[in-house]
Amino acid sequence: MGIVSSFCGAGDAVFCDRLCHASIIDGILLSGAKLFRFRHNDAGHLEGILKKERCRFKNILIVTETIFSMDGDRPDLKALLDIKAKYGCNLMVDEAHATGIYGASGSGVVEEEGFSREVDYIMGTFGKALGSFGAYLAASKSDIDYLINKCRSFIYSTALPPAIVSANLASIKLLSEEPYRRMKLLESAKFLRDGLKVKGFDVRGCSQIIPLVTGDNERTVAFADFLKEKGYWVMPIRPPTVPEGESRLRFSVVFEHDISVLERLLDDISNAEI
Ligand SMILES: Cc1ncc(COP(=O)(O)O)c(C=O)c1O
Repeated sequence: MGIVSSFCGAGDAVFCDRLCHASIIDGILLSGAKLFRFRHNDAGHLEGILKKERCRFKNILIVTETIFSMDGDRPDLKALLDIKAKYGCNLMVDEAHATGIYGASGSGVVEEEGFSREVDYIMGTFGKALGSFGAYLAASKSDIDYLINKCRSFIYSTALPPAIVSANLASIKLLSEEPYRRMKLLESAKFLRDGLKVKGFDVRGCSQIIPLVTGDNERTVAFADFLKEKGYWVMPIRPPTVPEGESRLRFSVVFEHDISVLERLLDDISNAEI
């Protein structure tokens, strides 16, 4: 919220993937900039709107997530970077679900795809794979200096407690010392995703977040309850978190989920009469 509302204001516009997280939307609304939402992962649609609207605004920020929280998929970053360059915009990415999992040093999808110097604002959190709390922004020195002096939500809220900062630093150290954790996680996620697909489920995405789309709210809740009885904690996600008619179970695989656990889960799902 603080980042967008510090960099954008009246007379500016923010072009945001329509499935971006609520905190990004709230930041845009707080900023006073005009909000445009482009179709999910549709760079062509983004360019179509920009072509028409670019001249009306001073600064334009394009925002996307690198791993979408409810769909587990990723954008075409190269296409977004080309559009950013062509229309003179800035690009901000939310790596909340990529931090600690992707890239040679675990910093995220931007690192994995080699765009660390091209993306203007790389934001991530410590509250997902890193198991702690808080967030960070990687940007140019001048942008960081600007935020330290201007970002209201940063200035007027209590700083992270030292214990949390220590936990964050320890997590970053683990990323470089124990890369096998993220490799195993991605292998396990692929195993579960492929297994669910073979069983004929509508499974989306390509990451450690595995949405199994059921469509109907009641069916989704019944499915989650069935799995809970069997000892699995799988969240049923319903509107408004996802669009109407796209309710889903959201499987989040973690490092400790061995293949044997996932095999048992796949067997149990086969017996679900939902
Ligand atoms: C994509 C995305 N961005 C930002 C956040 C906010 O993260 P935090 O709760 O660590 O501030 C979340 C949390 O769910 C998220 O999914």
